[in-house]
Amino acid sequence: MKIFFLASSILSADFARLGDETKKVLDSGIDMVHFDVMDNHFVPNLTMGPMVLRSLRQYKIHADIDVHLMTKPVDNLIPQFALAGANYITVHPESTDHLDRTLDLIKFHGCKVGLGFNPATPIGFLDYVMDKLDMILLMSVNPGFGGQDFIPSALEKLREVRKKIDKSAYNILLAVDGGVKVNNIANIALAGANVFIVGSAIFNSNNYQKTIRNMRDELDSVSHGVIH
Ligand code: DX5
Ligand code: ZN
Repeated sequence: MKIFFLASSILSADFARLGDETKKVLDSGIDMVHFDVMDNHFVPNLTMGPMVLRSLRQYKIHADIDVHLMTKPVDNLIPQFALAGANYITVHPESTDHLDRTLDLIKFHGCKVGLGFNPATPIGFLDYVMDKLDMILLMSVNPGFGGQDFIPSALEKLREVRKKIDKSAYNILLAVDGGVKVNNIANIALAGANVFIVGSAIFNSNNYQKTIRNMRDELDSVSHGVIH
């Protein structure tokens, strides 16, 4: 049974060929698509809306898509992205005044529920909502852009959240998002992540298949207990 999942953040793809690039990265061995939505309010960048997601579905992209909402507010966007074809919707606690209600709204619209944490956001926000979550996403960069460096403090945070999940007995995926590369993915897995969101490390490489293969080899070394 697969224990590690690779998701590609298409923020770093060539937007002039987004459908082809998404297909190519999936054909190269990625498990799911990470769709970064930015509103130039919650984060200082502006990306794509539900129409783009719908176009990917019409382009026969059938893989799971995690819509990462870096927007404020979020509630009005949840039904739109659910309708457009999202499988997961991930929100940040700071983006809503009523987190419990927003998480229920994601579930009500048939999507799996993700909760995202910026590097400085305390994990205390988990305390009363763990039962509602399918995925916890820890940002290892400050949100808004691809191609940034991994923030090392994310590893300690990963370990803490891994402990919380294992103690909770809920089946919650633990994703890490930002600055994930071939040379740090094993350490990130050792800290407890099982979903790895990768953007520029793949899309800026000249061989998607090889990069993904290298990442999987690194993860295999962790799952087989062989630590470099
Ligand atoms: C940043 C996004 C990330 C980013 C990851 O705000 O949420 O998903 O695109 O890209 P890399 O892997 O290039 O850091
Ligand atoms: Zn993201």
